[in-house]
Amino acid sequence: MNYPYQLRTFEAYQDAYNKSINDPEAFWAEVAEQFTWKKKWDKVLDWNFKEPKIEWFKGGQLNITENCLDRHLATKANEPAIIWESNDPNEHHRVLTYKELHFKVQQFANVLLNNGVQKGDRVCIYMGMIPELAIATLACARIGAIHSVIFGGFSAQAIADRLDDAGAEFIVTCDGAFRGAKDIPLKSVIDDALVGNKTIKRVIVCTRTRTPVSMLKGRDVWWEDEIKKVETMGNPKVESATMDAEDILFILYTSGSTGKPKGVVHTTAGYMVWTNYTFVNAFQYQPGQVHFCTADIGWITGHSYIIYGPLSAGATTLMFEGVPTWPDAGRFWEVVEKFKVDILYTAPTAIRSLMGFGLDPIKGKDLSSLKVLGSVGEPINEEAWHWYNEHIGQNRCPIVDTWWQTETGGVMISNLAGVTPSKPSYATLPLPGIQPCLVDENGTEIEGNGVNGNLCIKFPWPGMIRTTYKDHERCRQTYFSTYENLYFTGDGCLRDEDGMYRITGRVDDVLNVSGHRIGTAEVENAINMHAGVIESAVVGFPHDIKGQGIFAYVIYDGTHGDANLSKQDIIQTVSRIIGPIAKPDQILFVPGLPKTRSGKIMRRILRKIAEGDTSNLGDTSTLLDPSLVQQIVELAK
Ligand code: PRX
Repeated sequence: MNYPYQLRTFEAYQDAYNKSINDPEAFWAEVAEQFTWKKKWDKVLDWNFKEPKIEWFKGGQLNITENCLDRHLATKANEPAIIWESNDPNEHHRVLTYKELHFKVQQFANVLLNNGVQKGDRVCIYMGMIPELAIATLACARIGAIHSVIFGGFSAQAIADRLDDAGAEFIVTCDGAFRGAKDIPLKSVIDDALVGNKTIKRVIVCTRTRTPVSMLKGRDVWWEDEIKKVETMGNPKVESATMDAEDILFILYTSGSTGKPKGVVHTTAGYMVWTNYTFVNAFQYQPGQVHFCTADIGWITGHSYIIYGPLSAGATTLMFEGVPTWPDAGRFWEVVEKFKVDILYTAPTAIRSLMGFGLDPIKGKDLSSLKVLGSVGEPINEEAWHWYNEHIGQNRCPIVDTWWQTETGGVMISNLAGVTPSKPSYATLPLPGIQPCLVDENGTEIEGNGVNGNLCIKFPWPGMIRTTYKDHERCRQTYFSTYENLYFTGDGCLRDEDGMYRITGRVDDVLNVSGHRIGTAEVENAINMHAGVIESAVVGFPHDIKGQGIFAYVIYDGTHGDANLSKQDIIQTVSRIIGPIAKPDQILFVPGLPKTRSGKIMRRILRKIAEGDTSNLGDTSTLLDPSLVQQIVELAK
């Protein structure tokens, strides 16, 4: 397969960019022509940001798995689609060719059908990083069921909230998951999440860790038993369901400024075109190369650049079950060497953590297969960028710093590897189709270069969010109401003298911890559930490895006696309610929180104190009790 829309020179990028702005419909129609459609679209784009209404390729019909699997069979049947590397370096790796993956997806699609899953039903997938996770995801898409993958690090309460919001009727999970030295009892977490749940009809459990599990009669079935039934039926073919271009492909929950997670909705055709186009262009993928995205499929990066982008492009995608530092900090480099990885796509937090181990873990590892490096999830600091460039890329691999979001479906601002210029800590230039703009507090566009502002996007792109599940108003309010006729990203951004973009971080109450988005309100809600906590306020502070750490100010009635033990208990509660990723790094017990007379917490002040910068706390005269600030400063010392 070649990619006629792959941009191989800077001039080709400029031409494509100009065309995408001057005639977006013709531009995207040409790209979309390269895919397999059951029926071509009637209209390329219909939109307004007011409602918002975003419709791409309306009237078109297709199935994304036909584009990810069937269409490659003629030329790539025996080429690897998925290479899987275990958490345990001594366990044999697995390779699934396109033909095998095509077979297994249909086989599991049959399992779903036999268990009563129908088009449009919501299937929650809560699994570790094993090939069956990709198979389950694609099997949903095969029959038109909507998948909602939940990261294996989320706890029972977080899952329960997501199941409830999606009205999910089916769950696919594992007995457990291996992650480094840990063995996470996924099925038992699901059992806890299902206490009181009324919608789930069936739980399909795949064997991985052989952790003992309880199986509820009539509700829980084993993956392997169900596959056997399909084999007895003679493995019937499952024709791909006919999906409208704007039918929902999946829901993925993400944190926002309120405590309730948002179900970001992506639809079929636009998401497929966008993930494919951005995959082929940002990474400059060449047929035969091995693409290693280290994200978990529970996050958007895994959806777009482990599954849909690479597979729709007929690429070889590498799935890794483990973590970068187990059994030692050479694990990534071992994987790169073992599979001759061409493209490595990871997060700054992983790079910073590996930097901490020095160069020994890299010594003796053959990294000469690497051609392109990628970074995603948070701003990459210059030190990490240079280390990545020098020690991993050996000064010969372009680094793509890809800025995007769960809501954008795929990469929005990034250099194209080796084709457009890179600049350390800059995402650089927009991809074709993306019209970024910076606005001030009042929503006035800030023109020119060498300026700072809030990052917005002016025009729709195929992979953008369509709605928040069953709550369109929330989608409108969150993204389309702050500034009229603009999509607001929630990020601050700088445009330098050369017109290059540098993301400076979130400007709302959302934290970015180790590249994971966590809403402060969510953490506060969890802390407040702990007995004895009266109120809390959470802010971010700079953290050497995680990028941002979580600092919690807590008003606590102190019945426990031992402050340290109490803090450990609170951390435990957050871990149980949300998951270990949301654990506060620091907790400070305070007598009160600095509030304005209207009752709003002045987070600006709390952020400064958490950063240890108390020299200038700004105007505190509007506070209800200005003396409180000095008390908190003293306690924080
Ligand atoms: O703040 C930006 C940051 O991550 C946020 C999106 O988080 P999420 O939806 O979890 O998706 C992460 C993976 C795409 C953004 O609003 N972010 C993401 N990539 C970058 C980044 N910040 C700076 N540079 C990046 N390359």
